[in-house]
Amino acid sequence: MKTSTRKNRKVRLAIIGTGGMAGQHARMFKTINACEIVAVCDIDPTRVAYFAAEHGVTSTFTDTAEMLKKADIDAVSIVTPDPFHAPISLQCLKAGKHVLCEKPLALNYSDARKMTLAAQKAGVINMVNFSYRDWACIQAVATRVQCGDLGDLRHVEASYLQTWLTSKIWGDWQTTPAWLWRLSTQHGSKGVLGDVGVHIVDFATYPAGPIAKISCQLKTFAKAPKDRIGEYKLDANDSAVMNVEFKNGAVGVIHTTRWATGHPNQLSLRIYGTKGAIEIDSEVSTTGYRLCMGKNLATAKWEKVEVKPTPSNYQRFITAIVTGKAEQPDFARGAEVQKVLDACFQSDADGKSVRI
Ligand SMILES: NC(=O)c1ccc[n+]([C@@H]2O[C@H](COP(=O)([O-])OP(=O)(O)OC[C@H]3O[C@@H](n4cnc5c(N)ncnc54)[C@H](O)[C@@H]3O)[C@@H](O)[C@H]2O)c1
Repeated sequence: MKTSTRKNRKVRLAIIGTGGMAGQHARMFKTINACEIVAVCDIDPTRVAYFAAEHGVTSTFTDTAEMLKKADIDAVSIVTPDPFHAPISLQCLKAGKHVLCEKPLALNYSDARKMTLAAQKAGVINMVNFSYRDWACIQAVATRVQCGDLGDLRHVEASYLQTWLTSKIWGDWQTTPAWLWRLSTQHGSKGVLGDVGVHIVDFATYPAGPIAKISCQLKTFAKAPKDRIGEYKLDANDSAVMNVEFKNGAVGVIHTTRWATGHPNQLSLRIYGTKGAIEIDSEVSTTGYRLCMGKNLATAKWEKVEVKPTPSNYQRFITAIVTGKAEQPDFARGAEVQKVLDACFQSDADGKSVRI
């Protein structure tokens, strides 16, 4: 595995795409001593200039190819809209750069697989930003479930609820391009399933294991006259409901929607096994979880467990570059989740369950 080439120097990072989420990348990377943001790139010259000024970056570009040619960088963080993740990742991997790519890794499994193979061939660190892996609760729950504390798994319930279609707490979706492209397949959106369904599939399957069979219903509700606002045809799904069977035999329900009034951004996960149950509710805590096991099993009593913080994906990405030791979630994991998403679309189209 390729490591940061020059000893005793910081990892030189570029951020590609300087919209809403890029601010979080910049803020997080700026807290990590072992790296520095040395370049930023966006096709919108005004936006990239504003972002560079805000984050104190002097080198700006409006074209990735030009940046790869001119800027002295080790790694990139790709924060463009979804359709550009695959082409830009492949471009950067070809140039030998370590890549942290936003989710969903690609628009389909075929592209995600190509990216994974290209990353392996390049021998660089590759990670997908399933950002809820940053939460200490999911890391602790995954460890606990994977080491068998809950016994044989029987039932899983996971949901990711957002409310931006029924509230204005994140701005007015009807006038904000960053929300409108998410509602339009022509703008590369795979709907709520591709946007945050990808997170909850990772969140559920990270502890509970891979899915063997899935049945999914996707729904796009009417939101505007003729289902259109300006250049945006509003045809991407905004609710997704999955019935799943895991390879370990457990069954479950995973669902997500943008219509969950009262829940700006809630992830919840409940896993029930023969020896115990565990649950996360992000509106209650992301640094702890609830557990019912041992002597509490008989009385259905729950205890709260607090856990120590864990490194963020941003920290893991930089550490992996410095040490040369790969970290999760990598592109292969991103592709695995993508395969589940593809199966959801197929199941919805055919009205049948799909084996994965
Ligand atoms: N991990 C998370 O929790 C999380 C949260 C929010 C968004 N995201 C992901 O981050 C990505 C960006 O989302 P956002 O909300 O910041 O979107 P956004 O629309 O606010 O910003 C995207 C930016 O990318 C730029 N861009 C478009 N095409 C480009 C190209 N070819 N090269 C360079 N720049 C380009 C746009 O001009 C814009 O400035 C999406 O893939 C989204 O799914 C992830």
